[in-house]
Amino acid sequence: MLSVSLVAVVIAASHVLSANAQIVIAHFMAQNAFSYSQGDWTNDINTAKATGLDGFGTALNIALPDYEVDRVADAFVAAENANFKLCFSFDMSRTWQQSDIVSLVATHASSPAMLTYNGGVLVSTFEGEANGNDFWAAIRTSLANEGIKITFAPAFISYRDPSLNGTLLSDFPSIDGFFNWWSWPNDVDALLTTDTDIAYRDAAHSRGGPYIMSVSPWQFKDIDANDAWVELSDTLWNYRWLQAIQDVKPDIVEIVTWNDYAESHYIGDINPNVDLGDAAPNYVNGFPHAAWRIIAQYYISWYKTGTAPAVENDTVVFWYRAHPKAVSCSGGWAPRMADFPADAVFAMSLLSTPATISLDIGSTHAQFDAGVGAAIGSVNFPVEDAQIPFIQIIRNGQTVKSGYGSVFVTESCSWYNFNPFVGVIQ
Ligand SMILES: *[C@@H]1O[C@H](CO)[C@@H](O)[C@H](O)[C@H]1NC(C)=O
Ligand SMILES: *[C@@H]1O[C@H](CO)[C@@H](O)[C@H](O)[C@H]1NC(C)=O
Repeated sequence: MLSVSLVAVVIAASHVLSANAQIVIAHFMAQNAFSYSQGDWTNDINTAKATGLDGFGTALNIALPDYEVDRVADAFVAAENANFKLCFSFDMSRTWQQSDIVSLVATHASSPAMLTYNGGVLVSTFEGEANGNDFWAAIRTSLANEGIKITFAPAFISYRDPSLNGTLLSDFPSIDGFFNWWSWPNDVDALLTTDTDIAYRDAAHSRGGPYIMSVSPWQFKDIDANDAWVELSDTLWNYRWLQAIQDVKPDIVEIVTWNDYAESHYIGDINPNVDLGDAAPNYVNGFPHAAWRIIAQYYISWYKTGTAPAVENDTVVFWYRAHPKAVSCSGGWAPRMADFPADAVFAMSLLSTPATISLDIGSTHAQFDAGVGAAIGSVNFPVEDAQIPFIQIIRNGQTVKSGYGSVFVTESCSWYNFNPFVGVIQ
């Protein structure tokens, strides 16, 4: 189980959203905004907009009606100023009163920054199936009595088995759409399929939708003995986007996440003002993921326009863990599923014209022929200890661009760390 403390805000793209245009938002942990000023929100929103996002929403994960209520108010002001979208994702792993949910939605329902779908204020969750249909139906009725129509698309995470899609509909007459939270393999050494997406997309569409598909780059957590796991994520950030664009074609893509640092799936910058707790800094600090946004930008454009965008500047985004998976570390907890990831450096090219991507680390060499647009390859970790990868774009025998990673791959480690360093040659 991947438990997450959530109050989510979704950040959506900056253009005016026409009815049911393809929307991309990112799950934002509002509880990580404890120290945020309005300027922090503006920085995050501008970064998200530059990546092509429309908003933070079920991505505005709000865990409790505490300080988060004030931070969310700042977020709405910042989003209004930036022509950005937000929506609520109520984190039902925490205790919520119906009246608090109604009040928060009503307070911001008329904001131009509120994300709507099918003419209703989009409301989502993390969990909440245990509250039962009557709980959600009463919230809808209370808001309707205030003149506020909602479009309810929760992430009821216990509905993961494709065969339960009809049960979801019969259990919850109150839902309009569905957010499938699951964007990682289910504790197996195999790639994620789209079976769950297709089943719940079809169910959501029978209610008018939206179907919200989660797309995530990674999953690793190591904060205590019970919360120590990694899911096979080596190439997820590439193939999951292609599943969305070519196979599932969801109404909304939700990137999981913008800023859940402890689960290693953040694509936002590491903000030194955010309190990461005692454990997560051991595997988050020094492991930026910003370059993953370059890949997001490419695939978001493709998802929204239906065509892979032309690449102007040759780029290689690469990522790798700092330690071979079998080593023992002096701190943290050996994660479940530690044997699934490959001991390798992964590299994804975005090219204007074909080239060879050369990958070296220690005495190990690999290369792949990359065409126009996106391609992916890898090089295995070397036998030598304490090595750093060297990446080159080679065209007509000439090195066009090259560079090194900033983190050494070492046998010695002070914390079990399966969170990758993400770098870029551009
Ligand atoms: C459940 O999913 C399947 C596809 O996997 C689809 O054929 C079926 O119509 C779905 N059921 C409902 C109730 O939407
Ligand atoms: C390409 O690189 C140039 C020089 O670094 C930069 O000015 C330009 O904005 C880049 N173009 C894109 C589309 O990123």
